[in-house]
Amino acid sequence: MTTVGSDSGKIVLITGASRGIGFEAARLFAAEGHSVILSARDRQRGLSAVDALKAEDLPGSVHFLHLDVTDAASIAGAVEEVTEKFGKLDVLVNNAAILRDHYVKASEVAPDTLDQTLATNVTAVHAMIGAFLPLLRASGQARVINLASGAGQLTWMFDKVWAPAYQISKAGVNAVTRIWATELQPDGIPVNSVCPGWCRTEMGGEEADRSPEEGTSGILWLANEAPATVTGKFFRDQEELDW
Ligand SMILES: NC(=O)c1ccc[n+]([C@@H]2O[C@H](COP(=O)([O-])OP(=O)(O)OC[C@H]3O[C@@H](n4cnc5c(N)ncnc54)[C@H](OP(=O)(O)O)[C@@H]3O)[C@@H](O)[C@H]2O)c1
Repeated sequence: MTTVGSDSGKIVLITGASRGIGFEAARLFAAEGHSVILSARDRQRGLSAVDALKAEDLPGSVHFLHLDVTDAASIAGAVEEVTEKFGKLDVLVNNAAILRDHYVKASEVAPDTLDQTLATNVTAVHAMIGAFLPLLRASGQARVINLASGAGQLTWMFDKVWAPAYQISKAGVNAVTRIWATELQPDGIPVNSVCPGWCRTEMGGEEADRSPEEGTSGILWLANEAPATVTGKFFRDQEELDW
């Protein structure tokens, strides 16, 4: 694991953090003095992202972790590395996602596209929580935050369908949140979904009305300030959303 800065605060692992909202969240957690594990499936992009944060001389530390969330061996290797380096995990941010069916109708979505989207956006979130569970339990103050989307709200998608596979997957993330929140309630580990709002990233595009930094506000709140008793819920910033 490549490390920059000093280890203190919480141990925070973010998936898909070489760009977009994940990268911005890594920057802000490190700015608060936490130890951030910036993970990315592309080693070069991940290392460049760590270098960019190093240049900011933030109070926390940033560690690069090579992780493809759709690859079971990659997840197992990541668990091994985090176990060796930290022995626990305080905050897991399941941020990585793909959007492959912008502006198509449900009738135009190939089953393969849906499979790939579900593999990254839903199955991988489930796999990550399961694989990191021993490290989360070792924390004593762990929190799990899953990036969902207003586009996955069942109440909303009847009127607004613009990416069927992605929207199905984001409804699925919310189900993953509910199911794991139920199982982990006795452990005192909150599991919540958060929508960052429409943000100017590669996924959100340039027309979006929020900066990536604004998109992280719900993530930071759930990691730092939300009562630990709040679990199995769906937020944008600090406002609870309908499913
Ligand atoms: N932007 C928005 O308006 C918006 C709105 C609602 C919800 N969200 C959600 O917020 C999260 C972040 O979105 P974003 O806008 O920052 O997206 P983004 O700019 O497209 O970034 C997505 C990140 O996920 C990574 N990724 C994709 N597949 C992966 C895999 N198999 N393993 C590891 N990493 C993988 C990408 O890595 P590569 O660089 O290797 O591709 C990239 O770093 C997503 O869950 C998204 O659904 C975004």
